[in-house]
Amino acid sequence: ADLLGRNSFGVAATADRIVEFSDAASLRDYLAAHEDIRQGKLGVLGGGNNILFTEDFHGTLLHPAGEGFSVTGSSGNSVSVRAEAGLDWEKFVERCIGLGLWGTENLTAIPGTVGAAPVQNIGAYGAEAKDIVESVETLDLATLKEVSIAGCHCGFGYRDSIFKGVLKGRAVITAVTFRLSRTPRPNLGYDALAREVEDAGGATLENIRTAVRRIRGEKLPDPAVTGNAGSFFKNPVVDGELAERIKREYPDMPSYPVPEGVKIPAGWLIEKTGWKGASLGRAGVYGKQALILVNLGGATGNEVTALARRITDDVETRFGIRIATEVNIW
Ligand code: EPU
Repeated sequence: ADLLGRNSFGVAATADRIVEFSDAASLRDYLAAHEDIRQGKLGVLGGGNNILFTEDFHGTLLHPAGEGFSVTGSSGNSVSVRAEAGLDWEKFVERCIGLGLWGTENLTAIPGTVGAAPVQNIGAYGAEAKDIVESVETLDLATLKEVSIAGCHCGFGYRDSIFKGVLKGRAVITAVTFRLSRTPRPNLGYDALAREVEDAGGATLENIRTAVRRIRGEKLPDPAVTGNAGSFFKNPVVDGELAERIKREYPDMPSYPVPEGVKIPAGWLIEKTGWKGASLGRAGVYGKQALILVNLGGATGNEVTALARRITDDVETRFGIRIATEVNIW
């Protein structure tokens, strides 16, 4: 199966086969009936928005196709909404906002599917999936049993979860239940967002959504036009002493205190090494946001990783910080 149209980086690759499943029961039945496939190499491919293929996938990619959406309960101000893994994330956000529910509005316009959201704990503009995930339904590939994991047991961290750790290759996410709020809960800690929303007339769901879309549109390339997978690197967290040292040399360095130390935007570090807007072969660094690597046309996965290595080395040489990739490299 061809993966070219199935990854937002737009790199060429193939998989031995892609198997679509609509829900946990159908995936279980399929795997129970195809022991050879189950024992072979398995992977899960959602929208392919956070993945870079550097070689062909010699195995079976499981692809969630279920797009169900339903309100499953409510208590007081909180409303539980269940969505199947294959539902497009933005369609999910639209439905939630349409119901007047708070919690997804800062996460608008993130490419991907519902099933992928918990894996990397998607986040933007002060919000993260972990703030709203109530539980994640999975199929355990070892036992073919359905297992529901409460949000508090998902090991959520910055762009991280157990689905990237111990459950990687073991659990397939089939649906996610979110806990949203009927009463307004504007999350305007991100300064640029707060300013836009105020200019638009106040913190309504629609104003916040429109403002987030505008800010994203200014900084992030549209994958339909320019191949990319959003942030290629994670923002590193360093100890306070190192941050202080860099700040003395570069007083303009943005930084955010976090419990583990100080978070420094990787985009800023990369910009300071001179890579912003530059390229290596057919892979480039986006001119408006240096955290994003782009396919300039026909790039291979290995051309992108070659560029990523050069950037990583240059940032380390200049700042003594080793930045790590956020995108999954296969
Ligand atoms: N900056 C630069 N140069 C650049 C890019 C950024 O100096 O080329 C500076 C900005 O001026 C700002 C700071 O770095 O002071 C932070 O930039 P920005 O607000 O654009 O966010 P980010 O830290 O670069 C993170 C997420 C994004 C998310 C934004 C907004 C990660 C890995 N990335 O980027 O997520 O949209 O915050 O909340 O944490 C993604 O994961 O794919 C993604 C796009």
